[in-house]
Amino acid sequence: MAQFIPVDPFDLVIFGGTGDLSKRKLLPALFHRDSDGQFPPGSRIIGASRSQLSNEAFVALVREALETHLSKGALDDEVWQRFSARLSYHALDITTPDGWPELVAALNDAPGDAEGESRCRVFYMATAPRLFGETAHRLSEIGAIDSGARIVLEKPVGSDRESARAINDAVGQCFEEGNIFRIDHYLGKETVQNLLALRFANALLAPLWNRTHIDHVQITVSENLGAGNRAQYYNHSGALRDMVQNHLLQLLCLVAMEPPQSMHHDDIRNEKIKVLKALRPSDPATVDRVTVRGQYAAGAIDGEAVPGYADELGETSDIETFVAVRADIDNWRWNDTPFYLRTGKRLPRKASEIVIQFSGVAHSIFPQDAGGLEANRLVIRLQPNEGMKLTMVTKEPGPGGFKLRSLPLNLSFNETYQVRYPDAYERLLMEVLRGNPALFMRRDEVDAAWAWIDGIIASWQEAGTSALPYQAGTWGPTASALLLDRDGREWYQEP
Ligand code: BG6
Repeated sequence: MAQFIPVDPFDLVIFGGTGDLSKRKLLPALFHRDSDGQFPPGSRIIGASRSQLSNEAFVALVREALETHLSKGALDDEVWQRFSARLSYHALDITTPDGWPELVAALNDAPGDAEGESRCRVFYMATAPRLFGETAHRLSEIGAIDSGARIVLEKPVGSDRESARAINDAVGQCFEEGNIFRIDHYLGKETVQNLLALRFANALLAPLWNRTHIDHVQITVSENLGAGNRAQYYNHSGALRDMVQNHLLQLLCLVAMEPPQSMHHDDIRNEKIKVLKALRPSDPATVDRVTVRGQYAAGAIDGEAVPGYADELGETSDIETFVAVRADIDNWRWNDTPFYLRTGKRLPRKASEIVIQFSGVAHSIFPQDAGGLEANRLVIRLQPNEGMKLTMVTKEPGPGGFKLRSLPLNLSFNETYQVRYPDAYERLLMEVLRGNPALFMRRDEVDAAWAWIDGIIASWQEAGTSALPYQAGTWGPTASALLLDRDGREWYQEP
C-alpha cells in the first residue's frame, strides 16, 4: 500500500494565495499531506496577494476554505492546529516594488532546521500568466532565489506560442529549466499515471498497441458545469486553449508515445515531445472536416434548467465551449489511426475517458445471423468511477443457433483498492517539494503543443469557422457526431 515519505522542510509561497485555486485546490491538498505526516516541523506556507490581510484574517480564510472544500470529517482538530501554525501572509502587489523586502526578510528568518537538512523554497504562481515573468524578476532582484529554489507555473502558460515563449524566456532568465514546474493537473491524477502501468507493465497489450490492431482512439473530457463565474477568463480562452492544448494533448501523448527507456522524467518527456511534433498540422482547406466548434445554449442538466453561455457572459461571443478534433499522428505507429478528441462544458455528465477501439477480426467464421461480432474495445475511465473495461465477444448460452454477444471485463479501481483517491494537486505539490519534474511539462512540450493549437486557430480564422450552438445537456453540436460518421465511426457512449 501507499507509503507516506516525509519531504525536507520547505517554505512554500503561494502568489494568488487568497484566490480560487488556492482555496479550492492547493490549501486542501496541502492539508491532506500534512494530515498524513509528510511535512516536517518548521515547514511554512506563506500566502501572498494584493489583499491587505492580517495573518489572523488569512488563517480564518484558510479555515473557511478547508471547511468548504474538504470532505466531511477530514478537518481534524489536531492536524488543523499543526497546519494553521505553518500559515502566514504577506500583502504585496506583484506589479510594484512594495512588500518584497518584507517577504524576503520573512523567508530568510526560517526557524532552525536540523543539521544537514536543507530548506526548500518554492514559489507557486496561482495568478494570471502575465504576472509570471515579472514575479520571477522581482524574486531575483531581492535575492530570494537560492540555488534550489523552484517556481511552479499554473496553466495556461500563455495564450499562444508567442506569449508562452515570452513567459518561458522571462522565467528562464531567473530559474533553471529543471527548477521550473509547469502544471498540467491531469498528469497528477492517479488514473492518468496508471496509463503508464497499463501500457508498460502489461506485456499482452504491447504488440497490439499500433495502427495494425487499433482502429482509432477517442479521448473525451466532458463537464456538466458551465463557465459560470469564470466566463470572463474563459471568453479569452475557449475549450481548445483551456483543455485541448494541455490536458487532452497530454493524455494523447501518454497513449501514443513509444515506450520510454525508464521512468526518468527526461525519458518520458522525450517520448511525449516526439508525438506532439508528429501531429499533422491543421489546414484551412480541411479544418471544417476535422474539427467542430460549439457553444452551449440554454438547456437542462439532470432535469434542471441552465442558461446559455452568452447569458452567463452577459454578451454574445463566438468563443467555443465545446470542441471536437480529429488528430492524426504522422508516424509509423499511428499512420491512419486517428485520435478523436472532444471536450466541452454543459455536456450531460462529468467524465474523462479514453477509448481504445481495436480493429475487427480478419474474417468471420460465424453464421450471418450470429450477430454481435463487435470489435474489442478498451475503455479507460479516468474519472469518476476510475477503472477500465475491456469488451470481449462471447457465445450466448443455450440452444437456438450460435449467437454472439459482447460482454465487459470490468475492473473498478475504487472497489479494488478502497482508498481515497488523492487529488491531483496533492501528488503534484509533493513532486515539486521533492524536485521531481516528471509530471510537469517541459518547455519544449508547451511550445510544441501551442504550435499545433495555433495552427488550428489560424485555420479557423482563415476558414471563418464559427461556434455552432448546442443545447446544454447534450453531447455538443450534431456536427460532432458527423465528424466520426464521415469516417464510418461513432462516439462511444457508456450504455
Ligand atoms: C482546468 C480548466 O484546467 O480543468 C477548467 O481550466 C476545467 O475549465 C478543469 O473545468 C477540469 O478539471 P477536472 O480535474 O475537474 O477534470
